[in-house]
Amino acid sequence: MTEVSALAPAKINLTLHVIGQRSDGYHLLDSLVVFTELGDEIALREADALSLEITGAQAAGLAAEPDNLVLRAARLMGEAGAAITLDKRLPVTSGMGGGSSDAATTLRLLAQKTGAALPDTAQAMTLGADLPVCLAAPVPSRMQGLGEAVTPVAHLPPLWMLLVNPGQGLPTPEVFKVLETKNNPPMPAQLPMWRDARELCDWLASQRNDLEPPARHLLPVIDQVLDALAAQPGCLLARMTGSGATCFGIFISEAQRDHAAKALARPEWFIGATRSYGSPE
Ligand code: C5P
Repeated sequence: MTEVSALAPAKINLTLHVIGQRSDGYHLLDSLVVFTELGDEIALREADALSLEITGAQAAGLAAEPDNLVLRAARLMGEAGAAITLDKRLPVTSGMGGGSSDAATTLRLLAQKTGAALPDTAQAMTLGADLPVCLAAPVPSRMQGLGEAVTPVAHLPPLWMLLVNPGQGLPTPEVFKVLETKNNPPMPAQLPMWRDARELCDWLASQRNDLEPPARHLLPVIDQVLDALAAQPGCLLARMTGSGATCFGIFISEAQRDHAAKALARPEWFIGATRSYGSPE
């Protein structure tokens, strides 16, 4: 029996502008998203029934219940006979889109295995607002609307990245609930043509993650993570991803990133040294 497997990469919001709110409470976003070589791993093989086993360093954060996004994704594809294993390496409720990326990878693997078409954007959105961008992974993308409008972004270089999570989950709805200003300016319509990571980070410094202030208010340890990252030699930018609490640092070199990974190591913190995928040539 052949087994197929694939990486479910971490999703990192280099920017996350909240530019409005709909009457149903959902927020209008404008976000620059990249994916990293670090992620969860999904493997699946044919079986008599649909099942999910969760392994890995972060497995304790997640139950293999019917509402698990991996199983919901499989059911959306009409799959009833697959044994799925999720190797959970990313912390849960951490702003890295782990659940959405796992679901998107499951959809892609099942489409590959059965030849069935991927669900359309509206169907994918029933699993989560990050599904469309995760289905486009690992291409750097601009995500707009509620998450349904995804455009590939050119000229984005691969980045040496350090991901740091303080070991505490932060549920997305709670962060949106304490967000004060919901009509912030979007990114410019035309994104710049960055020549390298330094130029990109100079520009990113003029942009924002609007969920950072409310998340820091709810979880002050985020301040500590951001300060610690920004103080590392070679750190070009330190910011929070998604609704937190994971923060990322972008480094000039692999060596400086690795140095920072050692300097920031604490027993209760998750530290992921990785690289993000750049735009295709
Ligand atoms: O779609 P997903 O389950 O990832 O969203 C989690 C929560 O994030 C939603 O319940 C909602 O509170 C908030 N959200 C939002 N506007 C979006 C996406 C998510 O308010 N565009």
